[in-house]
Amino acid sequence: MKALLLDGKEVSARLKEKVTVQVTRLKSSGITPRLVVILVGDDPASAVYVRNKARTSEKLGIQSETITLKATISEKELLACISKLNRDDTVHGILVQLPLPQHINSEKIIEAILPDKDVDCFHPRNVGLLMLGKPYLLPCTPAGIVEILKYYKIETSGKHVVILGRSNIVGKPMANMLVQKSAHANATVTVVHSRTKNIKALCLQADILIAAIGKAAFVTADMVREDAVVIDVGINRVEAPDTPRGYKIVGDVDFIPVSGKAAAITPVPGGVGPMTIAMLMQNTVTAAKHLTNFIEHG
Ligand code: GUN
Repeated sequence: MKALLLDGKEVSARLKEKVTVQVTRLKSSGITPRLVVILVGDDPASAVYVRNKARTSEKLGIQSETITLKATISEKELLACISKLNRDDTVHGILVQLPLPQHINSEKIIEAILPDKDVDCFHPRNVGLLMLGKPYLLPCTPAGIVEILKYYKIETSGKHVVILGRSNIVGKPMANMLVQKSAHANATVTVVHSRTKNIKALCLQADILIAAIGKAAFVTADMVREDAVVIDVGINRVEAPDTPRGYKIVGDVDFIPVSGKAAAITPVPGGVGPMTIAMLMQNTVTAAKHLTNFIEHG
């Protein structure tokens, strides 16, 4: 392997230490940050993500509650649940795990969350603030990626970043952050999607290639330059009959050949995934401070 391994576990451990310090300060002022996660239905992958979020919260001293609702719940009932959490002063962060069942309008649900408690940074108000370069909370996965780049001192200013995927969760907010005129940004950004022509040629122009399309091993070695930094956001389940579970988790990058060519790469698991959760913890603390008018001293 030629590429430097960008260790998301290590970077997230540092970030979680910083969050823990802030939690301790809040608690000594009588404030316990509290995150409520809503899980609708029984998608096994979503259940794993939600469990990880709860476990990390507890480790950092953040109070966490998971509300599990049946897949058949009506949109109205879900909205009522959110409305109650919006009004509850002990709740600082609300996260509705996506995807939601077909009969529920996700946009309507996201817009119902009080923007001050929107720790996913999905609400139009928070997305707008981010776009204007005045963010309140940060989108967890893109912000986690910026933290990895910062930690390894990977320059973004003046670099060409090619993002594969235009989702509201990763691609669009990632482009939005990196294009800002601010520290750890100032990049030239290309967003590649299903209608893009000459995907390979564009990828070969990337100083930093961020893959977030949800297709196992989509990025092959012939699409990556030798001096490129590759960030793999994918979490894909692929069949693996010789493993105890019968499946394994792989990214959007064909890891072995690409890691033999690129300059640096994030592994899956252990790359971007742990960063997303750490950023969620930071957002919960930021929201708790904001909602309680907590003022930092010293
Ligand atoms: N589903 C996949 N990623 C995410 C995420 O970051 N937040 C939420 N709420 N749901 C998701």
